[in-house]
Amino acid sequence: MAEDLTIAQGSKEEQYEAIIPQIEGLLTGENDLVANMANVAAALKEQFGWLWVGFYVVKNDELVLAPFQGPVACTRIKKGRGVCGQAWQQAQTLIVPDVEKFPGHIACSSLSKSEIVVPIKKQDEVVAVLDVDSNEYNLFDETDQRYLEQIVRLINF
Ligand code: SME
Repeated sequence: MAEDLTIAQGSKEEQYEAIIPQIEGLLTGENDLVANMANVAAALKEQFGWLWVGFYVVKNDELVLAPFQGPVACTRIKKGRGVCGQAWQQAQTLIVPDVEKFPGHIACSSLSKSEIVVPIKKQDEVVAVLDVDSNEYNLFDETDQRYLEQIVRLINF
């Protein structure tokens, strides 16, 4: 497909519904994981304008920074640490309306106010997480959870 995105206006649902087929197009015929994570992060950043969106992958029992869009970030996160490490440990999506109230939150950027982290599983094991940060409080909800969980399932980990 052409490497241009069409950016949708409208409700959150309308924006996800518009970006998902384009993400499917970007992933079709490409099986390189880094390339695919990179394009998914870029497409989401371009559509939603979030502060930070990207992946951490499990390597030797740590989360290690992978393709992302946004400010520089911490490179390694241990299991149970911060929102990412908790989402990994609990193997479930975490929505944090105010990161300052989350015990152990890792502040990569002082601009980050709310966050959603979606674990990515392969054969029931968490192999990576998708982390999205916003500079607004309370930005993420069950709609983001539903669509982001759908989007990560499109990537062949
Ligand atoms: N805030 C995250 C760390 C990763 S960065 O925000 C990119 C956390 O507490 O897991």
